[in-house]
Amino acid sequence: MSNETTLIPLASCIKTESALKRLLSSGETVVCVHKQQGKTKKVAFKALYQNNKDFWLNSHTSWDYYIPRSIAENLQLPMDEEVPRVGISREMMDFSDEMVEELEETPLDKEGEAGTTNFGPEYERIEKLPLSQRIDLLATFKKRLDELAQRKTPFTGEHAAALVDASRDAALINRATLLEALKLGDEEAKQFTQGVVTATREMVKSTTRLINEEIFQHELVKRLIERSNGTVVQHMTRVFLNGLSFLSYYNEQVRSTSIANRIRIHFGKKYHSYYRQLLPHLHPEDVVLERVFYKGMQAVPEMDFHHFATGFLVHDIGKAEAIEYHEGETGYNRDIIVEHVKVGYQAIMNKTNYPRQAGLIAGYHHEYYGDPSGYGYFREYLAQYRQANPKATQDYCMTYELEPILDYQALAYFPAKVLEIVDIFDSLTDPLRVYRKPLESQEAVDFMRKEFIETKLKIDPILFDLFVHFLERRYSR
Ligand SMILES: [Fe+2]
Ligand SMILES: [Fe+2]
Repeated sequence: MSNETTLIPLASCIKTESALKRLLSSGETVVCVHKQQGKTKKVAFKALYQNNKDFWLNSHTSWDYYIPRSIAENLQLPMDEEVPRVGISREMMDFSDEMVEELEETPLDKEGEAGTTNFGPEYERIEKLPLSQRIDLLATFKKRLDELAQRKTPFTGEHAAALVDASRDAALINRATLLEALKLGDEEAKQFTQGVVTATREMVKSTTRLINEEIFQHELVKRLIERSNGTVVQHMTRVFLNGLSFLSYYNEQVRSTSIANRIRIHFGKKYHSYYRQLLPHLHPEDVVLERVFYKGMQAVPEMDFHHFATGFLVHDIGKAEAIEYHEGETGYNRDIIVEHVKVGYQAIMNKTNYPRQAGLIAGYHHEYYGDPSGYGYFREYLAQYRQANPKATQDYCMTYELEPILDYQALAYFPAKVLEIVDIFDSLTDPLRVYRKPLESQEAVDFMRKEFIETKLKIDPILFDLFVHFLERRYSR
C-alpha cells in the first residue's frame, strides 16, 4: 500500500452549491499547506468557512487548501481531472486534535476575512495603499503583461493569472481612487486621479495586446471562474476581460469575414422586425443594417478600442451594496441600482481625465434601448430633448462615435450595448451568484434571448448573435 495520500485542491471540488453543502454537513477537515513554509495543518472545513465564506478562493492568504481524495470521493465532490494533485505522506497527515482547536479559535488570515463591502477583502488592502503605491502597482502589472507579450510563447496559466490579477487590482484601485475623488472639487479631483488614470490606461493597452493574441483562451476563462468569489470586483474583472475578448472577436469578424454581408442577407428574415420596433417612424424599407449601425457595421479603431476597454474596466465602480442588479431577482432594489450608473458616470466624467467614452459606457450600460426596466442618463437626456424638440427623430440604433449620441441621432452607444450583453451574461453565470444558482452558458443564452430580446427588446439582437458565436467558438476549442 502506498504511503502517500493524494490531496486535491479544495477549489476544484467546490464548484456547486450542493458540493459545498455536503462538505459543510459532513464535519470533514481540510488540509492547509503554508505557501512559503510548506507546513501543514488539518482544520475542520466548517471552522474555516464560518471565518470566511470563500476562504478556498482567496489568493491572498498564506495557505493553500486541499482535501484528501478519499474524502472527496466519499462525499461525491466533483473533481477536475486536469487539476494538479499533491502527494503527502501519511505521517504528515497525522495531526493532533489540539492543532485543530487552536486553529478554530484563531482566524487563519486577517486579510481573508469578509470585508464590509461586496468588493471583497481585497478592497481593504488596496484602500490602505497611498496613491503613489497604487500607481506603482499598476505600472508593475503593466510591465509584467508586456514581458509576457514579448515572450511570444503559447498562452499559459501564467498569462491568465497575470491578466486576472492585474485586472482585479486595477478595478479595485480605480474604485478606491475615484470614490475618494468624489469628495474633492472637480479640478482638484482630476489632479488627484491623474496618476492612476494614466497608469490604468497604459495597463489596459498592455492587456489588450495580450488578449488580442488569444481571444478564446480556455485557460483565462478557467482562471476567471476559479478566482471568482461573488464580489463586485470579480464581476468587473470578468466583464473587463470577457468584454475585451468579445470586442476583439467582433473586430476580427468584421475585418476578416464578410459578416456584415451575411447579416445583410438575413436581415429581412432575422432582424427586421426587431429594428422596426426601435425605428417605427421610418418607412419599413428604410430599416436596414445601415440604420442599425451609424455609418454601417465597422471594426472599432485601435484608439476607441482602448477607450471602450477602459470603460468596461470601470463600469461598475459606482456599485455599493450586495444586492441583485437584474430585474426579476430576489434582492433587486431599483432605487439603489439606479444610483450605481450615476455615481460611476459622475466620478469618471467630472473627477478624472478618462476619455469621455469610458464615462458614457459606465453611465449608459443599463439603458436597454429605452425599455422601462432599464435606467441611465441617456434616456433621461433623450426624454428632455424630445420634449424640447418634438419633431426630432433618432434614425439610427447604435453609433460607434460620440457625436451621434451627443446630438441625439442614435438610440444607443455601441460599446454600452456590447457591455450590456457581457454584463447580463456574467451576472447570470456568476459562479457564486448570491441570490440564485448560476446558469450554465447555454441556459444563460436561452434565458437572455427569451427575456431580453423576444419578450422585450432590451439588448441588441445582432450583437447578441455575434456574442453567442463568440461563446460557441470559445467553448468548442
Ligand atoms: Fe452595472
Ligand atoms: Fe456590471
